[in-house]
Amino acid sequence: MHVRTATTADALAVETVRISGWQAAYRGIVSDAFLDGLVIDAERRARMITSGQATTLVAEDVGVLGMAVFGPARDGEDAMELYALYVDPGCWRTGVGTALVAACEGVTVLWVLEDNERAQAFYRRQGFTADGGRQELDLDGPVGEIRMRRG
Ligand SMILES: CC(C)(COP(=O)(O)OP(=O)(O)OC[C@H]1O[C@@H](n2cnc3c(N)ncnc32)[C@H](O)[C@@H]1OP(=O)(O)O)[C@@H](O)C(=O)NCCC(=O)NCCS
Repeated sequence: MHVRTATTADALAVETVRISGWQAAYRGIVSDAFLDGLVIDAERRARMITSGQATTLVAEDVGVLGMAVFGPARDGEDAMELYALYVDPGCWRTGVGTALVAACEGVTVLWVLEDNERAQAFYRRQGFTADGGRQELDLDGPVGEIRMRRG
């Protein structure tokens, strides 16, 4: 497995991994209506990959096993933020997430759903701890998100 910068040719695979990650990881946390309504939009992802506002990475073996997106912190602080990290559910716990985070240079802050225990355990292993930041999202219903940071 290796990690590289994504190109527009990866857009469909990146979206497929992201949506399958949402539907596997957030069932019971986010409403079924919201999860079942998610659609793969490769064109939108291709535009994000080329936007220049964030870096998209893929972990690849025979195909794409995971994706990460990072860039300047969205709240304006001088830090790099991990915007998204999704590993194909069939590959969880095989080191893909660790390889992706290792390649996200300078990332010190991220937001994670407060009931997403799996990801929080993973991020703690990567040196992140909750810093007290919390916000609420509306994903066809209220969902809490907490901020974690390291370094
Ligand atoms: C969170 C996620 C990215 C982790 O990726 P991964 O490739 O499975 O993680 P790794 O195999 O690199 O795990 C590294 C370490 O993290 C910890 N960890 C990972 N998954 C864990 C789990 N389910 N429970 C407890 N610890 C876990 C372990 O310490 C693990 O090391 P070990 O397997 O040797 O014990 C992956 O589970 C995922 O895509 N989840 C769905 C999407 C998601 O929640 N993304 C985060 C959005 S903010």
